[in-house]
Amino acid sequence: MDSFELNKIAGAFLGTLLFAMWLSVISGGIFSHDKPAKPGYPLPAAQEVVEAGGGAAAPSIPPIGTRLSLADVKKGEVDTKPCQSCHNLEKGGGVKIGPPLFGIVTRPKGTVAGFEYSEAIKSKGGTWTYEELDAFLANPKAYAQGTKMAYAGEADPAKRADLIDYLHTLSDSPEPLPAAGSAPPPADSAAAPSPKLESPPPAKNEALPPAKIEAPPAKSSKGALAKAALKQAK
Ligand code: HEC
Repeated sequence: MDSFELNKIAGAFLGTLLFAMWLSVISGGIFSHDKPAKPGYPLPAAQEVVEAGGGAAAPSIPPIGTRLSLADVKKGEVDTKPCQSCHNLEKGGGVKIGPPLFGIVTRPKGTVAGFEYSEAIKSKGGTWTYEELDAFLANPKAYAQGTKMAYAGEADPAKRADLIDYLHTLSDSPEPLPAAGSAPPPADSAAAPSPKLESPPPAKNEALPPAKIEAPPAKSSKGALAKAALKQAK
C-alpha cells in the first residue's frame, strides 16, 4: 500500500466525517426540538394513583377506638406537658388556667366546681367520651366556638390517641378503652400500601410517549416551511 492509497482512505474517512457533521448541523437546524421545562415525561397514571391514595387516606381517619388500640401511653404522657401549663392532672389537683383533668374521661363537660367555664363548653352538654375528647383536642375552637382554652389542638390523629390514652389513666378506676373497631385496622393497613404497590403499572404508559415525541417534528416542519417562505420572500 503506498502513501497515495493511504491518503485516499484517510480522505474518504475524513470526508464521511465532515458529511456526518454537516448533516447533524443541518438537521439540528431543521428539527429544532425545544427542551421541555421539566426533563422526562409525565406519567399520568402515577399521579392518579397518588391522588387516589391521598384522597382515600384523608377522610378515613381510623376511629378513636382503633387508634387507642395502637396508642402509646408513654408518648401520651410526654405530650401532656403543654397541657400542664394550664391543667392539673394529678388527683386532687385544683383549678389553674383551666380545670383539673383527673378523671376527665366520662366526666360531664364543664362541671368542675370553682372553674368559670365559657358558654361554649357549658352549653355542650353530655360527657367527655373518647370521641368527644378526640374532636375537642383536634381543634378546640372548631369544636366549641368561643372556648377559653387557648390551645391550638393536636392535628395528628395518632398523637391525639396517645394523649387520650394517657388521659384515660388519670382515674382511680380507669374506664375500659373502647373496642378497637376489629376490622378497620388490618383492612386499613392492608389497603394503605396497595396503592403504592400499584404504581409499577405506569410502565405500561411508556406506550404513551410516542404521541409526545411525534409532536416536535410537526412543529419544526412548520418552522422549515416558514424558513422556506422567508427564503422565497428574499
Ligand atoms: C393555654 C391553656 C391551656 C392549654 C395549653 C390546654 N388547655 Fe385545656 N382548657 C383550658 C381552659 C381555659 C379550659 C376551659 C375551656 C372553656 O371553658 O371554654 C380548658 C378545658 C379543657 C377540657 C374540658 C374540661 C372540662 O371540665 O370540661 C379538656 C378535656 C381539656 N381542656 C384538655 C386539654 C388537654 C388534653 C390539653 C393538652 C393537650 C389542654 N387541655 C391544653 C386551657 C388550656
